[in-house]
Amino acid sequence: MRVSDAVVLQLVLLLALWGSSEADMPDTSTPSENTSQKTPGISSHTTWEYSSSAGPSSTMESFGQAEKMPILNDTIIIHGFPKVSETKSITLESPAELELMCSLVISNATNMEKMETIWKSGNVTIKTETIRRNETQTKWCTRNTIKVRNKDQMGNYTCVFQTKPEINATFHLQVPQIHVKSEHMITYVGDTVILTCEVGNEKTHFNPTFWTWYSNNGSGEVLINSTLMPEKYSLIQTHANITKLKIFDLSELDSSFYWCKAGFLLGESKGKVSLKVLTYLTPLKPFLVIAAEVIILVALIFIYEVCSKKKEENTEVEKEFEQTETLKSEDSNGVENSTTRHRKV
Ligand SMILES: *[C@@H]1O[C@H](CO)[C@@H](O)[C@H](O)[C@H]1NC(C)=O
Ligand SMILES: *[C@@H]1O[C@H](CO)[C@@H](O)[C@H](O)[C@H]1NC(C)=O
Ligand SMILES: *[C@@H]1O[C@H](CO)[C@@H](O)[C@H](O)[C@H]1NC(C)=O
Ligand SMILES: *[C@@H]1O[C@H](CO)[C@@H](O)[C@H](O)[C@H]1NC(C)=O
Ligand SMILES: *[C@@H]1O[C@H](CO)[C@@H](O)[C@H](O)[C@H]1NC(C)=O
Ligand SMILES: *[C@@H]1O[C@H](CO)[C@@H](O)[C@H](O)[C@H]1NC(C)=O
Ligand SMILES: *[C@@H]1O[C@H](CO)[C@@H](O)[C@H](O)[C@H]1NC(C)=O
Ligand SMILES: *[C@@H]1O[C@H](CO)[C@@H](O)[C@H](O)[C@H]1NC(C)=O
Ligand SMILES: *[C@@H]1O[C@H](CO)[C@@H](O)[C@H](O)[C@H]1NC(C)=O
Ligand SMILES: *[C@@H]1O[C@H](CO)[C@@H](O)[C@H](O)[C@H]1NC(C)=O
Repeated sequence: MRVSDAVVLQLVLLLALWGSSEADMPDTSTPSENTSQKTPGISSHTTWEYSSSAGPSSTMESFGQAEKMPILNDTIIIHGFPKVSETKSITLESPAELELMCSLVISNATNMEKMETIWKSGNVTIKTETIRRNETQTKWCTRNTIKVRNKDQMGNYTCVFQTKPEINATFHLQVPQIHVKSEHMITYVGDTVILTCEVGNEKTHFNPTFWTWYSNNGSGEVLINSTLMPEKYSLIQTHANITKLKIFDLSELDSSFYWCKAGFLLGESKGKVSLKVLTYLTPLKPFLVIAAEVIILVALIFIYEVCSKKKEENTEVEKEFEQTETLKSEDSNGVENSTTRHRKV
């Protein structure tokens, strides 16, 4: 059996000022309080605060036990109405045990004796709990331990306090998200390009079990296999947390969407890059159009000049006229040819 990483997440949701009258905030460090909003049917007001402690803080080596359990403690403090719903993302790459907790601070004026709570996985109820109150209690607390062993257990877990209106908080479990270095790449025919995807950052490191690349130009996903086309593609894998796809000798046919996919024990994560391959003439197009217009204009002026001259010189020597005639037709032919050539581009 492999030693699996396990993370115990203790997530605390605190709702302050819940109840029918104003109460002191137990946590006065709230940076943002909007206490002036009133909603019909809600006589109190609250705001949500999110704070987080140091992330994956410790890795506890537990000798003689099957599991090594790094502990992640996060805190969400909710300061309440009118915002009655909050979501927090939790990133997991490998199996873990999560201890989720929602904690709702009781206003002194509240005389409720009990609180009904529900835990949901997606839209399915997985646990119900009735919390009874005694004098010393200042919070309604509900916990749920979730053992995440495979990707079917990823998703959303929600605790619901059955107040009016309902107050809930959702823990959104997800695998590490991919960062695409440049989402939109523009290159030229014949060039080489490198597309890059990575996971994690300086603080948090992840190790995908595999990376794959796909292209999709609209006719379906095509797996890129650099072994089959080494002259076209090269996959560069310097660290587990980064992947690079090198594409050689670009043609306009390589313009496409490219997808990188990272595989984790708990699921897959995708990133998208759009690649546009231009010919060198593409950026010259506006210039060529202007150049063509100038040439036509010059040609028209030239023809006009020649024609009016011809009228004047009509009475003059026949030989001279013939020479001019041949010159004119040659020149105008040359001009027209070059015009059509440029416009075709
Ligand atoms: C609520 O009750 C506790 C304990 O009785 C007290 O310490 C606290 O100051 C009270 N808060 C308010 C807002 O009255
Ligand atoms: C408070 O509410 C006002 C409008 O109601 C909003 O513009 C402001 O950003 C809010 N401040 C905080 C800290 O939420
Ligand atoms: C995380 O929570 C556990 C139990 O709740 C506690 O033993 C541990 O010291 C906490 N770790 C940190 C870094 O706060
Ligand atoms: C949480 O509360 C919000 C607002 O009342 C509601 O839209 C949402 O459906 C609730 N979520 C769950 C999972 O019950
Ligand atoms: C729960 O969600 C699933 C899909 O997400 C849906 O098929 C099912 O009907 C939902 N059940 C209820 C009770 O809403
Ligand atoms: C009140 O509840 C707290 C927490 O649930 C518990 O530790 C305490 O013993 C209880 N006190 C009484 C008098 O029941
Ligand atoms: C989980 O919740 C988030 C935000 O509330 C939502 O975007 C996402 O679709 C939900 N995921 C599942 C699997 O229900
Ligand atoms: C990727 O992993 C390497 C080696 O483990 C590390 O030095 C680097 O900081 C990581 N980069 C990111 C973005 O996580
Ligand atoms: C998409 O790519 C495939 C294979 O690379 C190619 O056969 C197909 O013609 C392309 N389709 C379009 C619309 O470019
Ligand atoms: C790429 O092609 C080679 C040779 O056909 C094959 O052995 C390999 O499994 C393929 N790789 C992928 C990722 O499909």
